[in-house]
Amino acid sequence: MEAIRIRGTGKPLRGNVRISGAKNAALPILCATLLSDGASKLRNVPALRDMDTTAALLRFLGRDVVVSAPEVTVAEASKPVRPEAPYELVKQMRASVLVLGPLVARYGRAKVSLPGGCAIGARPIDQHLKGLEAMGCTIKLDRGYVIAEGPGGGGRLKGAEVYFDLPTVTGTENLMMAAALAKGRSTLVNCAREPEIEELGRILNKMGAEVDGAGTDVIHIVGADRDKLQPFDHAIIPDRIEAGTYMCAAAMIDGGDVVLEAAELGDLEALALKLRHAGVQISAEGQNIRVKRDGPLRAVNVTTAPHPGFPTDMQAQLLALMCLADGESMITETIFENRFMHVPELQRMGASCALRGNTAVVSGVSRLFGASVMATDLRASASLVIAGLAAEGETEVRRVYHLDRGYEKIEAKLQGLGADVERVMGVSG
Ligand code: EPZ
Repeated sequence: MEAIRIRGTGKPLRGNVRISGAKNAALPILCATLLSDGASKLRNVPALRDMDTTAALLRFLGRDVVVSAPEVTVAEASKPVRPEAPYELVKQMRASVLVLGPLVARYGRAKVSLPGGCAIGARPIDQHLKGLEAMGCTIKLDRGYVIAEGPGGGGRLKGAEVYFDLPTVTGTENLMMAAALAKGRSTLVNCAREPEIEELGRILNKMGAEVDGAGTDVIHIVGADRDKLQPFDHAIIPDRIEAGTYMCAAAMIDGGDVVLEAAELGDLEALALKLRHAGVQISAEGQNIRVKRDGPLRAVNVTTAPHPGFPTDMQAQLLALMCLADGESMITETIFENRFMHVPELQRMGASCALRGNTAVVSGVSRLFGASVMATDLRASASLVIAGLAAEGETEVRRVYHLDRGYEKIEAKLQGLGADVERVMGVSG
């Protein structure tokens, strides 16, 4: 088992770091290639395990995929697609459920393993299924699989009005892709508004669909009047959560001064506001973001919310930063039911944090101490790494495969900013 070992040097991070393409944009866009038979090319794709998993899924379905980061090419279809996504692949990555909408829209049927829950919550997909039923799909659940069939035993989906009971990112994305080939108009209401959804809307329009309003809470889609869409060639947007993670890392030690290259501050306004309130200087410089810390950190209160609210994917990283702030922070998680697993690990590093229901009460301390800690999910593991940067002594973050799902070359990027970080092998899990 691999681990990341961080030695707290006491020196602030300084220098430039290039932000990779957005994992959570690349995943739905790769699934959107199923809506076309042609050869599509995706650029600025991060070299992450989830990309390999998605490529393996597309290959299982029958498409030829070449992953050569930062490019991924889905070749022209050479054989019929088998619209089935097995448990063995879906269990590796919940976002595999994003093949459901494209498959049933294109082939009239799909058999996709229910993704099941994960460390941070139950993660149901009832909203995805409700939307597909509104488009005329018959949905059956059979031994852990979703069996979806278009109208009349496999016919074409019909445009519909779909109302989401709550904003769901992949639910919105699945229904956008389904509606892109459904017959007639669809209106999706109470949609998630993340920048990755706006990016998917751009792709579907490049492919010949008519999508209006992606990135807002109401999306209008006119399904293409043919049975497939055109291929595309597209470079995806930067990863705002990776960028936010490095913004918190830069603020961990007084004197930090880091430029994030190819990062979009507009997608991180809620985080930037909170960091500024905490005393961190954040500025946009062209296509870059500059983060400077010059003085003590002030405690801030945060409640996670759907975009454009404070992102749940940044909660763990900000909590790590607040462990060293002056005062008490109240950090409330409203999106997932179990997203404080980083707290017990941070407590082992000397953090003073109490959990009260879905709120973490963090009392800032003057210093953290290095320790061996356990990663439990993607963003929790990132929070342990950035805490290790500011801790006295050595921190070893185990089960680092969680980290590798969302952070490309994290040790090289942190080394480039002056951190003493290395990947070690053969550590017990
Ligand atoms: C996406 O997950 C992201 N993943 C997550 O990022 C992110 O944390 C999450 O959105 C919230 O922003 C990808 O984009 C691949 P949701 P998703 O559906 O779509 C409930 C990371 O760290 N819900 O927006 O699965 C759900 O339980 C990952 O990169 C239903 O009840 O999240 C949750 O409480 C982690 N029924 C809330 O909605 C449904 O049918 C938001 O979930 C769907 C969701």
